[in-house]
Amino acid sequence: MGESIGQQQTSDRFYLRGIVSKLRVRQHVNPLSVQYQQAISAPDWQAVYQQSEQPLHLDIGCARGRFLLQMAQAYPERNFLGVEIRHSLVEAARQEQQALGLGNLCYLFGNINFQSESLLASLPGQLQWVTIQFPDPWFKKRHGKRRVAQPELVAILGQYVVAGGTVFVQSDVLPVAQEMEALFREHPAFEKQHHEPWLETNPMLFPTERELYVLALGKPVYRALFHKRKVAVASGVGEAQGSQKSGSK
Ligand SMILES: C[S@@+](CC[C@H](N)C(=O)[O-])C[C@H]1O[C@@H](n2cnc3c(N)ncnc32)[C@H](O)[C@@H]1O
Repeated sequence: MGESIGQQQTSDRFYLRGIVSKLRVRQHVNPLSVQYQQAISAPDWQAVYQQSEQPLHLDIGCARGRFLLQMAQAYPERNFLGVEIRHSLVEAARQEQQALGLGNLCYLFGNINFQSESLLASLPGQLQWVTIQFPDPWFKKRHGKRRVAQPELVAILGQYVVAGGTVFVQSDVLPVAQEMEALFREHPAFEKQHHEPWLETNPMLFPTERELYVLALGKPVYRALFHKRKVAVASGVGEAQGSQKSGSK
């Protein structure tokens, strides 16, 4: 927790060197730049997934995709979709998926914050799980709009996650975790699943690459779990929807 922004950025550089060795990958891309203002077009899902009607897990900002690669092998009865804004990482992830012949895993290149509604509306199975894990922190206040967890995205997820479905978020950067936690907790479609501010352990079967790196450094991870409500709560609870304030105790 006591790490300065400078230290965090230095350790990020080492982390990225590790996971993307031999790949020429930009460390961060600005999702607001004009080249990323394109909706992600939905592929032919019947051709993508062997059994397209299976319940689906969406991992937002999946990077090289190793988390999903493991999940897809462990849960053949689910489909997995990773969305990642850095093209070369998507290419590398696809090569691994194809080498393993996984018919329940798909990686798509694109900006999840740009008109993702049509992509989510096109999904062939119920959207049962969403994970946002260690999103880029964009420390400077003026870069806040570049963060992946935005009120608009939370609202779209509130619409397309199936009732009873799960949203799991985690970060090692407390303000980023607080912001994500507040956005989902304050949205009327979602209900936090624990009274304590943060979950002690990761409810997913596998850690992500960033998580392994952070845990190896002995740093804390802030995690929160939400379910999509079966019945929407009365309006008023959701008035804070869209707020960027971090409300965790
Ligand atoms: C710090 S990495 C974490 C990767 C992985 N989730 C993990 O935990 O190891 C965050 C990833 O989100 C991607 N990303 C950032 N903004 C995005 C956006 N708007 N749409 C899709 N991917 C995005 C970044 O390119 C990066 O690969």
